[in-house]
Amino acid sequence: MTRAIEACIFDLDGVIVDTAKFHFLAWRRLANQLGFDFTEAQNEKLKGVSRIQSLELILQWGGLTLGEPEKLALAEQKNDWYRDYILQMERGDILEGVEDFLTELKSRGLKIGLGSASKNAETILQRVGLMDVFEVVIDGNRHTRSKPDPEVFLTAAAVLGVPPERAIVFEDAEKGVEAALNGGFFAVGVGSPDVLGHAHYVIPGFAGVHFETILEQIGAQALAM
Ligand code: BG6
Ligand code: MG
Repeated sequence: MTRAIEACIFDLDGVIVDTAKFHFLAWRRLANQLGFDFTEAQNEKLKGVSRIQSLELILQWGGLTLGEPEKLALAEQKNDWYRDYILQMERGDILEGVEDFLTELKSRGLKIGLGSASKNAETILQRVGLMDVFEVVIDGNRHTRSKPDPEVFLTAAAVLGVPPERAIVFEDAEKGVEAALNGGFFAVGVGSPDVLGHAHYVIPGFAGVHFETILEQIGAQALAM
């Protein structure tokens, strides 16, 4: 029997809005200022990872070792550049198909939550007008253990009152999918199967995607488990 799904929990950056490109631009600017560069493939490793851990990875790629005060200053500099981008965001920046999908979930009575590593999540949700859609927002200010630890999703599910096995997590990050699986959730990857092949199902984005299709796909997985 397929287990009944009661909730959907969404990552924010790269799933609801295309902020992944702004993170990349701002980190790259910082790396270039420090005298080196990194690739889009390396950037995949930064998705879902907290600001300070991202910086540590980037410094490692550039072969730099810095003290805590310098690291904090660089993280703040990156965040200032990043905020210049997100403060320009508006409703039109919501990724294609997301609003229809969220409306469909609401009309079917599903609970909707957000689980993001970002400390800028509320700013972004406010800018694009989606703050009221989520019954719970667990962001980078409300959890401490980074993905692939499942804490962020488990906290969101607990607030929604839904056990993980009755919830689907939507994620664009390799580590985010891992976090969902570690927590016992169904995981739907949003992006490329090359990166997200460990998810129960992968969609390229939400354009034209219906909840029924997702249920059919993960239902088949549930039966096989
Ligand atoms: C995640 C992004 O959602 O949030 C990461 O995928 C980012 O790239 C992390 O580093 C933290 O975001 P912020 O906005 O707090 O710097
Ligand atoms: Mg993401």
